[in-house]
Amino acid sequence: MRSQFLPYCLPQIGEEEIQEVVDSLRSGWVTTGPKVKRFEEEFARYAGARHAIAVSSCTAALHLSLAAGGIGPGDQVIVPTMTFCATANVVTHLGAQPVLVDVDTDGLMDLGSVERAITPRTRAIIPVHFAGQPCDLHALSRIAARHGIPVIEDAAHAVGSVFQGRPIGAHGNTVAFSFYATKNMTTGEGGMITTEDESLASRLRRLALHGMSRDAWKRYTETGSWYYEILEPGYKNNMTDIQAALGLHQLRKLDGFLERRRSIAGQYRQAFSDLDQIALPRELPGRRHCYHLYPIRLLALGRNEFIDELRKRNIGASVHFIPLHRHPYYRDFWRCQPEQFPGAEQFYSGLVSLPLYPRMTDEDVEDVITAVRQIVGQRRTLPPAAVGRRLAAALSE
Ligand SMILES: Cc1ncc(COP(=O)(O)O)c(C=O)c1O
Repeated sequence: MRSQFLPYCLPQIGEEEIQEVVDSLRSGWVTTGPKVKRFEEEFARYAGARHAIAVSSCTAALHLSLAAGGIGPGDQVIVPTMTFCATANVVTHLGAQPVLVDVDTDGLMDLGSVERAITPRTRAIIPVHFAGQPCDLHALSRIAARHGIPVIEDAAHAVGSVFQGRPIGAHGNTVAFSFYATKNMTTGEGGMITTEDESLASRLRRLALHGMSRDAWKRYTETGSWYYEILEPGYKNNMTDIQAALGLHQLRKLDGFLERRRSIAGQYRQAFSDLDQIALPRELPGRRHCYHLYPIRLLALGRNEFIDELRKRNIGASVHFIPLHRHPYYRDFWRCQPEQFPGAEQFYSGLVSLPLYPRMTDEDVEDVITAVRQIVGQRRTLPPAAVGRRLAAALSE
């Protein structure tokens, strides 16, 4: 048994990040400034995008992307039900309707459900690269193009993921990334929007800083001007140089972090592949999964019991996600019923995320493997009918 609790997630922040933050603090430039600009340039290069706009969170990135698209009352935006609330909440903030759609056996937006959900009021589709597994962006683009609807990718989990040889960020859409504390790289809180479109990029910059005219952040520098104009009522979603100081070094370490994530995922797959009581995440063809999450599905034992048993062994776990249609607001206000989302209901049953992050040591990984094997080995089985149903679903993947 471990003597210390293994948290479900921890960021990996090194001396370089600390020194860079200290440098920002000493410089006196603590809000948006030169480091944000550098971070944006380096991030755009990494993601293979023309423009990158640093913002205060992925939630802000999604909200601004929708606002820049003019989405408002009377409009509909398609969102998968298997996501974090932010993906859909931002739609309601603009007075539009989030239209929830079902997911497939990998937890990704079901494209048939997307087609069926499109109406003349649909103004955007927000696919979520769930757990770091890229959605089929080619198939989605074909649907979106047929109906003339823009795609705004929720890539909160997917910085560093690759679809058909190109990084997420390089597929021509507006893309929202997260640098929240648990993400593949972190700035504490923070986000980024990437786009190919220059005029959209400058509109997003403006919306992120009160609607001020260009380069307003420079107004306190020796080259800046005191004069600015408010061109529209924007928001206050800018990133600070303190955050960018963290981001610059996290970005340089990102490939190493991703390699470690993929290596731990490989160890889990090898260690659990003979256990028919759990279904493991897989990497779909033509994609590089970054394993932001490692969501397993328990086929023959109860989730609460499993998480309790992990906790008794000093190991944390989490659940990603409670589908949106199960939350009171979406269930009651938007009248969502579980029967509308059979894929998500199936996916959610027994869903548990195991710890997986670069800071885990080999011993930590071994402890998780031992604990899962022990718990599954001493499981209280479900009635045979329930086991049969869950196994049949897993085999159909
Ligand atoms: C799928 C998804 N979208 C959006 C967000 C929001 O990210 P942020 O916390 O950076 O606003 C999250 C956060 O966990 C997420 O998981």
